[in-house]
Amino acid sequence: MKVLVISASPRADGNSHLLAEAALDGARAAGHDVAHVFLDDYVERLFGNCRTCRLADGRCSLDDRYEDLLLNRMLPADGIIFAMPLYFYGMPGRLKTVFDRLFCYISNSAPQQARVMDGITGKKVGVLISSEENYVGATAGVVAQFQEATRYLHQELVGVVVGNGNVRGEIARDPSDPVGRARELGARLFDIRVTDYRLDTVRPNAVWECPAVN
Ligand SMILES: Cc1cc2nc3c(=O)[nH]c(=O)nc-3n(C[C@H](O)[C@H](O)[C@H](O)COP(=O)(O)O)c2cc1C
Repeated sequence: MKVLVISASPRADGNSHLLAEAALDGARAAGHDVAHVFLDDYVERLFGNCRTCRLADGRCSLDDRYEDLLLNRMLPADGIIFAMPLYFYGMPGRLKTVFDRLFCYISNSAPQQARVMDGITGKKVGVLISSEENYVGATAGVVAQFQEATRYLHQELVGVVVGNGNVRGEIARDPSDPVGRARELGARLFDIRVTDYRLDTVRPNAVWECPAVN
């Protein structure tokens, strides 16, 4: 399987990058075909909903490498892992822009609409977050946002790893071992079974396969 890890921090030697590298290691060890990109190299322009930046044929005219990222990196991936620092209890603006600008590729006037809608769905998604604070509410908003965005895109959010650090690299000292958990998420990205039941979902009583018990 193809795994793309997207690093959203401008600090190439920062905390979320350590998580990204661990996820890459895990995915590689599991036999997957891995790739890693830094958002800084691809996304420079913000989404403008004035529509004047669309060319006559509906294509995006913004002069950065977003289209390369979307069409040639994200669409071919079977799984995407986003590695990000927490900024003001949310995702960094550059990463939010990845989602915002998707609008210009899935709207009815976009010539790539069918290709992008077909290619963006069905992926397994993981999220790695480094933050200074560790109370649960600090990351609750951004985790909810990823849950809704993946639901909207017919993707599956299979795991979120949160680790704490502020000074570059100190996330490795977090006793909850986020680096190890990121490695495991990379390794198990396609094996994690997400369950989301409804009242009438037919299912066994036990979550894991085990000898019958009442
Ligand atoms: C602009 C900015 C906003 C931040 N906002 C938060 C925040 O709301 N909560 C928090 O816990 N940490 C916050 N931090 C700290 C970073 O999330 C933390 O240092 C993280 O480990 C940085 O990851 P990186 O090394 O991958 O860039 C912020 C840092 C910056 C630069």
